[in-house]
Amino acid sequence: MVFGRSSFRFYWLFQALFWYYTLLMRTKLVGSLTVTAALWWLNTAVGNAAELKPIPLPAAQTEGGKPLMQALKQRKTTREIKADKLPAQVLANLLWAGFGINRPGSGHRTAPSAMNSQELDLYVALPEGLFVYEAKPHQLKPVLDKDLRAKVSGQPFATNAPVVLIYVADLPRLTKSRPERREFYAAIDTGCISQNIYLCCASEGLATVVFDLDRAPLAAAMKLGPEQEIILAQAVGYPKDE
Ligand SMILES: Cc1cc2nc3c(=O)[nH]c(=O)nc-3n(C[C@H](O)[C@H](O)[C@H](O)COP(=O)(O)O)c2cc1C
Repeated sequence: MVFGRSSFRFYWLFQALFWYYTLLMRTKLVGSLTVTAALWWLNTAVGNAAELKPIPLPAAQTEGGKPLMQALKQRKTTREIKADKLPAQVLANLLWAGFGINRPGSGHRTAPSAMNSQELDLYVALPEGLFVYEAKPHQLKPVLDKDLRAKVSGQPFATNAPVVLIYVADLPRLTKSRPERREFYAAIDTGCISQNIYLCCASEGLATVVFDLDRAPLAAAMKLGPEQEIILAQAVGYPKDE
């Protein structure tokens, strides 16, 4: 996924057509080069056909749901997950419950974070691509137009679940923490978010499993920066019929 590629491509197409028009008849070589360039462009265009756009999410439904004590009673790990997609409203509720903004005035979130560093990003691997949850606009920002679910883990639920959350810490955001304590805080903060997701799943009748993963190849596939660290992942979907 690359933004702003279309106008760039049109520029090159125009260039190719221009040179084709002016030079093709003079030498066959130039004509061939122009055709090759046009084909290269077409190939690139097809490769980016699935360019992703931000996905705005509906406001989370903050009324209703199961009472907290019932959700706690039903919280559990379920690894048998159907491939069926989650409706946008359910995904919106899930992400808001996980780490949405619940006090817009201060920007504080549904899960605590060490010194309110808010260093965790929720990457969302969907069949259509990889996104990151932006809490303030409450939307999914595109990252890559590739289905990375199978790269998250060899465990079958990761490939099958319609939503795989990848908890990524941006460690420099823990500005008030000593560098050697940052991973420790990021792991704890991830646990808080993960439990919110578990409770939301219990409330919404969803299946979920938090799981460990092979970090280095996934970080490379996600094109993460050197200070970004994958902490954990969590698959979510509807439970398979028992
Ligand atoms: C840090 C962490 C890592 C986990 N990794 C995996 C995993 O890689 N695969 C898996 O199937 N479950 C994993 N789990 C889920 C646990 O196995 C599960 O929570 C445990 O069996 C208790 O079941 P319950 O959540 O239903 O109470 C993990 C849980 C945590 C907290």
